Amino acid sequence: MHAPDIDHAARLLAAGGLVAFPTETVYGLGADASLPTAVARVFAVKRRPVDHPLIIHLADADALSRWAADVPAAAHTLAGALWPGPLTLVLRKAEHVGMHVTGALSTVGLRVPAHPVALALLRAHGGGIAAPSANRFGSVSPTTAAHVRRDLGDDIDLVLDGGPCEVGIESTIVDLSRGDDDPVILRPGGASRERIEALLGRAVPVREGGEVRSPGQLPSHYAPAARVIVTNPARLAATVAEQLRVNPEAKLGVIAAAEGVTPPRWTRGEHGVAVRIELDPHVELARHLYGCLRQLDDEHCTVIVATLPPPAELGLAIADRMRRAAGPRDGDGRDA
Ligand code: TXA
Ligand code: MG
Repeated sequence: MHAPDIDHAARLLAAGGLVAFPTETVYGLGADASLPTAVARVFAVKRRPVDHPLIIHLADADALSRWAADVPAAAHTLAGALWPGPLTLVLRKAEHVGMHVTGALSTVGLRVPAHPVALALLRAHGGGIAAPSANRFGSVSPTTAAHVRRDLGDDIDLVLDGGPCEVGIESTIVDLSRGDDDPVILRPGGASRERIEALLGRAVPVREGGEVRSPGQLPSHYAPAARVIVTNPARLAATVAEQLRVNPEAKLGVIAAAEGVTPPRWTRGEHGVAVRIELDPHVELARHLYGCLRQLDDEHCTVIVATLPPPAELGLAIADRMRRAAGPRDGDGRDA
């Protein structure tokens, strides 16, 4: 990425424009966090309800005390160890942080992303960049610039291409707005619960119901067009057979965890399964999950059967996203 591209992007942001940029987790759709009209455009382009708060991205952890108030020691501990990185801290907001970003909450989500292009953009911009994932509300998050262009195309001013995202699933959101004694994981993600607990020296519960803040939200997030069915590895063959029996017309795609298989291995047209993707259940599955869901949609699969990884380390976040992709849908109330 050349410096002129970054300078151009920073000027667009300052003028109220929308710039999609890479992070290590997923691509973000950025606007200057201090410009209400620019942030309003983010909600309009995403078609996301305005009471759903955005994460503000910062260039470094020193900016924490400018954007948050009453920052507890635990926040400094986590920021010091994990930023830049896939961690978002929810803290009490500083006075100047507008309700247009926080969804009218008195708290704010803050994160320093670990991607050279994101950091260069943040430094050139000099302020906070409010950015949700750069996909339409309810669909799968983008992990390449091509995904962003397909989803949002002409509705935004620029897409900075920083290659495929390394982590592939969103940041872990830790709510510390009630202070050191009550940390809660609102959304599992790229920073593991195990690591966060080790750093804080205490158990950190994962909030039931996930990160969803606004009323009426449903559990179906991050969803492809195909119907998603989750199963465990031991039941995969039985689940596939059952799907083919009840719905012989289905075009079936399978995402199966297979230890040591990197990069992902594709096979086609075997045993009634149209497309089968096998990949290592740890880092590779997180990195490629959203891309695999999109590709199975492109292959016109009508049903996707996916095996859940064990709920430890990155597996907790992967299982969370797979369950949401498989969640009930009724058209409204889906985030992502
Ligand atoms: O990895 C990520 O976090 C990516 C990249 C672009 O940084 N961003 C992302 O943003 O996933 P988004 O908007 O798709 O999801 C952010 C989540 C939302 O579910 C929102 O409810 C939650 O963060 N959030 C933001 N501010 C919050 C707050 N003050 N309190 C509670 N939840 C908050
Ligand atoms: Mg999102």
